[in-house]
Amino acid sequence: MIKGVKSAPTKALVSSKLASLKEAQKLEMSNLESLGSKKSKLEKRSSEVSTSNMSVSDSSLANAIAENTGSENSHITVLLEEAVHALAVKPSGIYVDGTFGRGGHTKKILEQLGSNGRLIAFDRDLSAIESSEAINDQRFTMVHSHFAAMQARLAGMGITKVDGILLDLGISSPQIDEASRGFSFRYDAPLDMRMDQSSGQTAAEFLAITTEQHLAEVIKNYGEERFAKQIARAIITERNDGRAITTTGQLTKVVAGAVTRFEPGQNPATRTFQALRIFVNQELEELSLTMPQCLALLAPQGRMAVISFHSLEDRIVKQFIRDQANRDDLPANFPVRAADLPQPKLMSVGKAIKPGAKEIKRNPRSRSAVLRVAERTHVA
Ligand SMILES: C[S@@+](CC[C@H](N)C(=O)[O-])C[C@H]1O[C@@H](n2cnc3c(N)ncnc32)[C@H](O)[C@@H]1O
Repeated sequence: MIKGVKSAPTKALVSSKLASLKEAQKLEMSNLESLGSKKSKLEKRSSEVSTSNMSVSDSSLANAIAENTGSENSHITVLLEEAVHALAVKPSGIYVDGTFGRGGHTKKILEQLGSNGRLIAFDRDLSAIESSEAINDQRFTMVHSHFAAMQARLAGMGITKVDGILLDLGISSPQIDEASRGFSFRYDAPLDMRMDQSSGQTAAEFLAITTEQHLAEVIKNYGEERFAKQIARAIITERNDGRAITTTGQLTKVVAGAVTRFEPGQNPATRTFQALRIFVNQELEELSLTMPQCLALLAPQGRMAVISFHSLEDRIVKQFIRDQANRDDLPANFPVRAADLPQPKLMSVGKAIKPGAKEIKRNPRSRSAVLRVAERTHVA
């Protein structure tokens, strides 16, 4: 999680990723392997991983996450009441939970749906898919997919309009806490960091082929790390000296050697880990591709509720809602009657909602969460 964000990701970086994601989206339907074979691969990978403890001290984030989780497989849902209330669930409506995780929001939505209601959930993580098997409910459908394929996947089920969409962005506590996933500097493990364990490039694979300049851009733009250049140089020097970075432990050590100043209580590698995670999972591109799909999918009065955990994400959500809800693009004294102006397709609902002190105390991970809500108007 980052505080005091100063710079936005470069447009070039985002648009090149958008192009590759669009391509991936087209292939999505045909490329899906059977879930069974993915699960067995996952089990094999988990058993291959070593999880010895690292010598690096815990950061405040790691501490926060440790406080947050009761067990390896638990996730405390953030802004549960607020987000589901914001959707104003219609008993017979069709809803989408784009980020199932451990199903906290999903279960709450199902509680509010009547017998004719429907909920389709997405997650790209196979452990999340596995955990969804505990929900035995005819109204519920789980889809293993990244949410940027939402519109295509729903169309494949004959669904072109929905009454609400929820996105609770970022990673879940089980993802961080499972050493083998390679998301955390608290454990020494293979440097994976993919939310979808069945496809895509791992962080180690990226570090093996990237250029120093590209790596520095990624660390700077997605981690807002002021020592990005020094860190990139240190990583590439290691690689050139025959010590390619393949584990979280190696990465943490190399970054610690390159960062001379960092926030008190924070592991020096915090921002680099965040940057690589965002890059490997194309998190900002996913979000940018999905916002227009939400607009297209929502029926009039349908609502979207998005929970962000850092300002890079929140900026995309805020900007999208603002662009669709406001007439900022028109000059102040535009000589046209108000009724003749193109009408907005979205209406922002209330102000951004943040967790209260009680929730933050109970669940420190929630402290950077921001919920934004928008409603689809009747304008086609
Ligand atoms: C913060 S957790 C969601 C927790 C959930 N709301 C709950 O209450 O249990 C985020 C989840 O979204 C998934 N996720 C993140 N980005 C995704 C994407 N682009 N497509 C699909 N799933 C994604 C992650 O794998 C993770 O399981």
